[in-house]
Amino acid sequence: MSQLLNNGWTVVNPNAHIPAPPPTTTLQATVIKEQHSWRTTISFKINNVDYSIAPETINPRTTLAVYLRNHAGLTGTKIGCNEGGCGACTVILSYEFDGVTKHMPVNACLRPIASCDGMSITTVEGIGSKKSGLHPIQSRMVECNASQCGFCTPGWVSNMYGLLLNNSKPNINEIQDHFDGNICRCTGYRSILTAMSSFAAIDDDDEKQNDNNNNDTNNNKSGCCGNETKCKHYAHNKSIDIEDLCSKIPHKESTFPHQVPSLPTTPLCLQTNECTWYTPNTLEQLIDCIQTSTTDPADIEIILGNTASGILKYYDGSIFGTKEQVTPKSVVVELRQVAEMHGSSIGTDGSITIGGAKSINDLITLLKKTSSTDKGHSQIVNHFNRVANNQVRNVGGFAGNLAFARKYPTFPSDCALVLTAANATLSIVSPIDLSNSSSNKYTNNRETNKKIFTTTITIQEYLNTPVDDGKPLIIVSMTIPSLSKNVLFKSFKLAIRRENSHATINFAANVSETKTIQILYHIEKIKGPLHATTTEEYINNLSLAERFNQASLTNAIVKLQADLSSNNISKNSIEFYQCQSLLYKVYLSVQTESLNPKLISGIDWELPRNVSTGTEVYADPGDEKELPVSKGYPKVSKL
Ligand SMILES: Cc1cc2nc3c(=O)[nH]c(=O)nc-3n(C[C@H](O)[C@H](O)[C@H](O)COP(=O)(O)OP(=O)(O)OC[C@H]3O[C@@H](n4cnc5c(N)ncnc54)[C@H](O)[C@@H]3O)c2cc1C
Ligand code: FES
Ligand code: FES
Repeated sequence: MSQLLNNGWTVVNPNAHIPAPPPTTTLQATVIKEQHSWRTTISFKINNVDYSIAPETINPRTTLAVYLRNHAGLTGTKIGCNEGGCGACTVILSYEFDGVTKHMPVNACLRPIASCDGMSITTVEGIGSKKSGLHPIQSRMVECNASQCGFCTPGWVSNMYGLLLNNSKPNINEIQDHFDGNICRCTGYRSILTAMSSFAAIDDDDEKQNDNNNNDTNNNKSGCCGNETKCKHYAHNKSIDIEDLCSKIPHKESTFPHQVPSLPTTPLCLQTNECTWYTPNTLEQLIDCIQTSTTDPADIEIILGNTASGILKYYDGSIFGTKEQVTPKSVVVELRQVAEMHGSSIGTDGSITIGGAKSINDLITLLKKTSSTDKGHSQIVNHFNRVANNQVRNVGGFAGNLAFARKYPTFPSDCALVLTAANATLSIVSPIDLSNSSSNKYTNNRETNKKIFTTTITIQEYLNTPVDDGKPLIIVSMTIPSLSKNVLFKSFKLAIRRENSHATINFAANVSETKTIQILYHIEKIKGPLHATTTEEYINNLSLAERFNQASLTNAIVKLQADLSSNNISKNSIEFYQCQSLLYKVYLSVQTESLNPKLISGIDWELPRNVSTGTEVYADPGDEKELPVSKGYPKVSKL
């Protein structure tokens, strides 16, 4: 039974039983634990070896990277940036959940050890070692001179291993696109790409791609992917090329899987000195955890992938020393196993609905299913492929991204802008009655009145709801409507580099069937996303025939200038010129059919990118005086 509140919120199941809140944190954990048979120790596998940790022995927030290096003695995994940006700490998490087996390269530096409970972790030592024999990925890294100081190498190897587990025959484009989250400071990348490319399966498209590349480069060996048996360009190389070496190593099938465990069906409760950690399995358990944990809701931290911990310091002021280090909250509630937050579906109208515990990569996978008939969804896929990097997107949720944007409005969230423009809606659950603005505590007497409040709101409403830590708004699911009938849905991300970089400007336009336009922008360091309201109003007040012509464009640009200047973006700034050119692209895109052919190239935003190639040529014979500099030497010490 549910009651509708006058603000649109619904009280669900108001009479359900809730256990009495215990007076102390220690007792609380005991009560919750008994009620649901909660497990009280973490267990997982590392490289197929069982580990079990008693709660009093470790802080559940300890990162997997630190655990591997300092507790498990596995120092192959490196810590570089410690914020999810360099990939040196990449390991593979494997598990089965909801009938699906997952193998995910993730950043161990962002993963709390308690979030590994029930999973299998594969590190570079598990992939191969001198003792047990190198895996072909490792051998090829050596043979191709793809490792110099070696600090980044375990991360590249692990990320490639994760790719092969999910896709044993990746094509060259898939390989190249996979590595948006690994950084190397020594090699210059060419040799790494050569090593990884040697795993590419060749298909017709690759052949064409190779042909194109070959033509582009006057028939030298740059079109070779390194695959000796399949690449027709392989034999044409006349120079002494280190790529020859790697290609001679046979492609051995991966020895995986280690046994992939199913995630436990009982929830987890860890009582430690640092915090009480809950991993509930259902929405009801989740609400129980929040309601019975503490009398101060502000002392609860809710997490999913915990990846936002990598960027937090740039937004909460701590990196600039302007703020005291925030005291960690005493209760952590993890969303990753809440069953009700894991569904996904495609509606008969072409809309998609996805659970709030799904990752950004899960969302991309779902949107790809509707993309062939929905250009708007396809545009969202393109944009979301540029959010963070593959390792972050594997576990980081769209919901966490939106929640972070709500808390820190200057964070240039790709998800917030694109999903607002797409008119997505969120299904929200809260243990607190938000209709009562004076209340930041749980409503009524928790002993007798268990209340779960639910509502559906737009992204903009969600982002605009003031952040009050006492009022958690849990995103249970999101619906993105079909955009297939829209005249146009276009979004743009300008950033200092194509991958693994926050936007300096995010911009989107949604032109509906009736040609009504929504224009949104978010400019770095300014609170957003914002509607260009004056511009929207101007265009929408024109007759249909006038909306997207030359005259209206000239006027719309003046209106856009007014919108931006109201946010202190001057008409002489680079940001204004960039937004202006993006609006121009929107105008061109709407007029595709009647467009002057000379202007067509202005529509293309994502210019097609050929597979990167490179050749290393040594003088033959090498100049003796220059040796060893003039000759390539594989780093045999690594074999
Ligand atoms: C190296 C790096 C690069 C990045 N680059 C980009 C980028 O280019 N563009 C971009 O947009 N973002 C970027 N991000 C941000 C990234 O997208 C977010 O960190 C991620 O989406 C957060 O998801 P999460 O599940 O890990 O959230 P968590 O870190 O677990 O949580 C973040 C916040 O969300 C809340 N939360 C989580 N799930 C829910 C839910 N279901 N309901 C309500 N609240 C919830 C938590 O309470 C917390 O306040 C980057 C992050 C990193 C580390
Ligand atoms: S250490 Fe750089 S991503 Fe983890
Ligand atoms: S950082 Fe030194 S080999 Fe990549």
